[in-house]
Amino acid sequence: MRRCVVFDLDGTLTASGEGILNCVRHALKELGRPVPGDEQLRAFIGPPLKWSFMHCAGMDAEEADRAVAAYRARYGTVGLYENSVYPGVRPLLRMLRRRGDWVAVATGKPLRFTSRVLEHFGLLRFFDRVIGPEDSADAGKAELIRAALPEKWDEAWMVGDRRFDIEGGREAGVRTAGAGWGYGTEAELRGAGCDFYAPDVAALTELLCPGERRPRGFFLSMEGLDGSGKTTQMDLLTEALRRDGFDVLRCREPGGTVIGEAIRELLLDPAHSEMGDETETLLYAASRAQLVREVIRPALEAGRVVLCDRFVDSSAAYQGGGRRLGVADVLAVNRMAVRDTMPLCTVYLDITHEAAMKRRLAASEPDRLERQADSFHARVEAAYRELLTRDPDRFVSVDAAKPPEEIAQEVAKLVLHRLTEAENG
Ligand code: TYD
Repeated sequence: MRRCVVFDLDGTLTASGEGILNCVRHALKELGRPVPGDEQLRAFIGPPLKWSFMHCAGMDAEEADRAVAAYRARYGTVGLYENSVYPGVRPLLRMLRRRGDWVAVATGKPLRFTSRVLEHFGLLRFFDRVIGPEDSADAGKAELIRAALPEKWDEAWMVGDRRFDIEGGREAGVRTAGAGWGYGTEAELRGAGCDFYAPDVAALTELLCPGERRPRGFFLSMEGLDGSGKTTQMDLLTEALRRDGFDVLRCREPGGTVIGEAIRELLLDPAHSEMGDETETLLYAASRAQLVREVIRPALEAGRVVLCDRFVDSSAAYQGGGRRLGVADVLAVNRMAVRDTMPLCTVYLDITHEAAMKRRLAASEPDRLERQADSFHARVEAAYRELLTRDPDRFVSVDAAKPPEEIAQEVAKLVLHRLTEAENG
């Protein structure tokens, strides 16, 4: 049996409201029209734009055309990316693909914008077909939905958040599901006669894939010398992944569990200056073993993306390299702690130990002790380089000397690429 699921884009797959509303405001201002409040503006999300400018802003057809042009000028460069993927959408798309369903998009947004949005979020590969008007002409939704379907099908659903989607679906002769998480109201969707009303993505998932297990999540880690800007990049990557629609669980080492936090205190207590390097290594590994079993594995099972601030590589670099215990030996000690729970991808913030030191000291002259510490960090850096050559496929290395925003963009792009490959693999 061939089942097809056709999705609307704005308000169904992506929360594009912010970008759309900013562009509507821009267009109204350009035409010297008053800009209404947010509540009224929300009516613009979903229906054909020209229709909205005519019915919600009282324009005639000619003025509405000019408004659409002004809107699109800003949308194509900025508005398109003021956007995010709804939580739960990525796992649902993966589950539909796993079932072998035909999955498509039918939207009133011009095709070039739709393709760019889907590409930007790494979603394009999920779809058998993406349909939208080639130019600014407002095509009927039913026509778009029909074009999104294959020649032969047994069951088909249209999923959308506005009455146009539901009415279009009914006209095209498919079943319809109202996406209650979008920009339409429950009354609007039910009033349009949807066959099923889904208040959230979980309800739609239960309708389309009843009782099915969520696909496994992904494990990511971030590494770098002290002073590489890791904390900032962890924040920015978490934010970027959430915009891409991933359910991110962030954790740090050592710690993250009751036992792990107790171990962290043992490790960081200045009174424990007599702690041997081997003891230190085993304590890091013990905290890690607990984190893997108590936090990381259950989160991956639940389909989440785990982003860990430091993992095994830190022990290999700091204890193996810095403390001279040997990278191979430290990795061997950690094998039992980790087993096969290794990151799919590890971001390495690449900075020389000299540059990292300069950042740590904010350009002041290092004293004797700090110089000694510098040789420690030189060994840590060398060990990281060894790890990169040992496992080139896992690491994503970025130049950490660049401005933080630039690094963040590069990291987000590289990591999303790895994740989308794994999602489709
Ligand atoms: P860091 O992530 O930089 O924490 P903070 O932001 O609190 O400074 O890590 C703290 C230190 O712990 C860092 O110098 C590296 C060290 N460390 C190890 O030596 N081995 C390990 O296995 C881990 C996880 C960390």
